[in-house]
Amino acid sequence: MSKIDEYLDSNAKRFEDELFELLRIPSVSADPQRGQDIRRAADWLVDHFTKMGLATELIATEGHPLVLAQSQKTQSPKISDAPTVLVYGHYDVQPPEPLELWTTPPFEPEVRDGHVFARGAADNKGQFMTHVKSVEAWLAVVGRLPVNIKLLIEGEEEIGSGHLEEFVRQNTRRLACDCVVVSDSCQLAPGRPAITCGLRGITYYDLKLTGPKRDLHSGSFGGSVTNPANAITQMLSALIDARGRVQVPGFYDDVVPLTDEERRQFAALPFDEKTYMDELGVDALAGEEGYTTLERRWARPTFDICGLTGGYQGEGAKTVLPSVASAKLSFRLVPDQDPAKVTQGLRKILAEVCPAGIRMELIEHQGSPGMKVSLDSPYIKAAARAIEHGFDIAPVYIREGGSIPVVSTFAQELAADVLLLGWAQDDDNTHSPNEKFSLDSFHRATRASAKLWEELGRVGE
Ligand code: BES
Ligand code: MN
Repeated sequence: MSKIDEYLDSNAKRFEDELFELLRIPSVSADPQRGQDIRRAADWLVDHFTKMGLATELIATEGHPLVLAQSQKTQSPKISDAPTVLVYGHYDVQPPEPLELWTTPPFEPEVRDGHVFARGAADNKGQFMTHVKSVEAWLAVVGRLPVNIKLLIEGEEEIGSGHLEEFVRQNTRRLACDCVVVSDSCQLAPGRPAITCGLRGITYYDLKLTGPKRDLHSGSFGGSVTNPANAITQMLSALIDARGRVQVPGFYDDVVPLTDEERRQFAALPFDEKTYMDELGVDALAGEEGYTTLERRWARPTFDICGLTGGYQGEGAKTVLPSVASAKLSFRLVPDQDPAKVTQGLRKILAEVCPAGIRMELIEHQGSPGMKVSLDSPYIKAAARAIEHGFDIAPVYIREGGSIPVVSTFAQELAADVLLLGWAQDDDNTHSPNEKFSLDSFHRATRASAKLWEELGRVGE
């Protein structure tokens, strides 16, 4: 066993403890009350990276701060012929609610069954920490890395990465690199590590409808004015048809169809629909007609209502015609759909279907396009060898339905190849109660990551 792997093994317990320390910080980016905790998480990283010997900066933005650490200064002169690798991750987490559904509190990490349970365990603290620990191992054992490394960890991924995107555009020299490594997605299944070759993009909106200026007695007034709750159900059902086709004008215009080769590759993956249904607790699957489940999840655009409110929500009956109703909407996008065009189309159809007597407001949140990664990159081949070293099996090639907004900005602005090396699992309950992350994956991924620096260092040699 190599000296590096020995170091990883003998420090495994401490790595877990350090991850748990970070998981105890409730760095919820969406919650304005958590500003101090966000700052604490960023400070924790700055402190951690500095102690490892990295040149580390806390970078303020209009939103939550970025942490940028570089190996260059620890190994001057810079190893100029070795590739420069930008590792991206996020220290912010999703809100933990509903709290009552957690077996143990979200910010008190607990190990059960070989998994650590905590908000952020998989998304994304446990995943990016594998790269932090592998960098530590190289610096501790060898004193230098086989590549030039930049670690960029942000605090706004879960709210769309708006400020980081601006930072990337304005700091392309500072972030210049040959490839970007992102571990913020999933393996195909336990024991089935994967390299992700595509992500969906997203657009997200708040739709707010207002009818009468106050809640009304539904007997006295019902039938004489438009009820915003009735209206919102009619409007939303106009957005998708019974065959799963989104009705926003122009929605499919720029969608790149799947090639036969891609469809064959998806179909060849070990994916079992029955297991998938059982795991989700459903007795049927649904989606756009003419596509398989993996195609629907990874490579077809969709519309989903992510939240829906209006009227009385308490116990028992209350006969009331609500004054307002609202919904949170998301579209998942595939290459080459343009988020701005989707918004335009959505405004158009909503205006058409909005009934008389309703005032409508559509608030647009941060959007990002879908992306595909070419498999031809020598960096991908290096990553495949590194994954095999860590997981004792070669990776499969998959796509993911989720979005990592800044990734396409990296690819464009830095002209770098992107390596999406997800270590989590589909059943890790990200964004849900009882989020977890396998400690075996944590350690195997750290081992793969340490090997990755060596393999990437050889590219171009
Ligand atoms: N780690 C996820 C993205 C992800 C999820 C990739 C599942 C692959 C599989 C990331 O933290 C995330 O949740 N992104 C958000 C972005 C949104 C808030 C703009 C998403 O996809 O909902
Ligand atoms: Mn997430």
